[in-house]
Amino acid sequence: MLDQLEQLATAARTELDRLASGDALDDWQRRTIGRNGQITGMLRRVGELPKEERPQFGQRANQLKKELEAAFEAKAEAIKAAELEQNMAAGALDVTLPGRPVNRGRLHPSTQTLRRIYQIWADMGFQVYRSRDVETDEMNFQLLNFPPHHPAREMQDTFYTTNPDVLLRTHTSPGQVRVMREYFPEPIRVILPGMCYRHEQITARSEIQFHQVEGLAVGKGIRFSDLKGTLINFAHRLYGAGRPTRFRASHFPFTEPSAEMDVQCFLCDGKGCRMCKYAGWLEILGCGMVHPTVLRNGGYDPEIYSGFAFGMGPERITILRHGIEDIRYFWGNDLRFLEQF
Ligand code: PHE
Repeated sequence: MLDQLEQLATAARTELDRLASGDALDDWQRRTIGRNGQITGMLRRVGELPKEERPQFGQRANQLKKELEAAFEAKAEAIKAAELEQNMAAGALDVTLPGRPVNRGRLHPSTQTLRRIYQIWADMGFQVYRSRDVETDEMNFQLLNFPPHHPAREMQDTFYTTNPDVLLRTHTSPGQVRVMREYFPEPIRVILPGMCYRHEQITARSEIQFHQVEGLAVGKGIRFSDLKGTLINFAHRLYGAGRPTRFRASHFPFTEPSAEMDVQCFLCDGKGCRMCKYAGWLEILGCGMVHPTVLRNGGYDPEIYSGFAFGMGPERITILRHGIEDIRYFWGNDLRFLEQF
């Protein structure tokens, strides 16, 4: 059997030396050192030998198999090199051809602004909470203190589904109730970013979809001064320390009291210009103390807990910062616009 093995190995070796193509090489490998190959088969037959001959046979068979494997690798390399040489000689590769330029993509301007906003709030200890785009009328309006037919609903023209109780969220505020129901009774510090939808005439100033970043803090002893301090800190991180800010009284059904926050126009430093419509101030967000009814709807007893909430529009922040003239550019997918950022 040892002789038979030696013969097989020699024959395999001779055949290997003569091979010239990758296909033939694969075939050879299968027939000899592959799992069902002849050499491998011999190794399996070691049990047919008398006990005392087995070690010698096994050793030799393994050695031959290793040698053939090494020869196979070397041959594979050689064939690959020869094939490359042939292709080059045949002119299949023209090294003088100019390369194809690879265009680098970039982040959408809204994504860039969103990421800056996330970073600032993360530094201030706020986690990102993702709420849903498709909401119920109850979440989007009723639990936020907009009863059916409340006039404030008219400011948020709504896309309804075929089911009038299911709609596309008109703002990120319904997420407030979802967070509260999930976190109770823990204190809350989250931002809720996401797309919002309103059934509006599309013009240079209004779109049917836009982002909002909602913020919510709930706990014991949270006061209006905490809201002011936190939002002023945010504005300073976004627009530079020392940028003047102001709060104006406002109204939202789900906050009480409510306010809007302005920063001094950073283009004219408050002197008045086209961007701030000669007011000297730019409105950046709506905010207020979470209404007791909303706290209760979220499961937090307003006698024990309080909180503040705010909502801002990153597209508006981006428009102001880059002087973008038309909001339709944002979702128009025009590369000439997107490549400028
Ligand atoms: N949801 C309000 C809007 O869409 C913004 C807001 C959020 C106001 C949170 C106060 C508190 O206009």
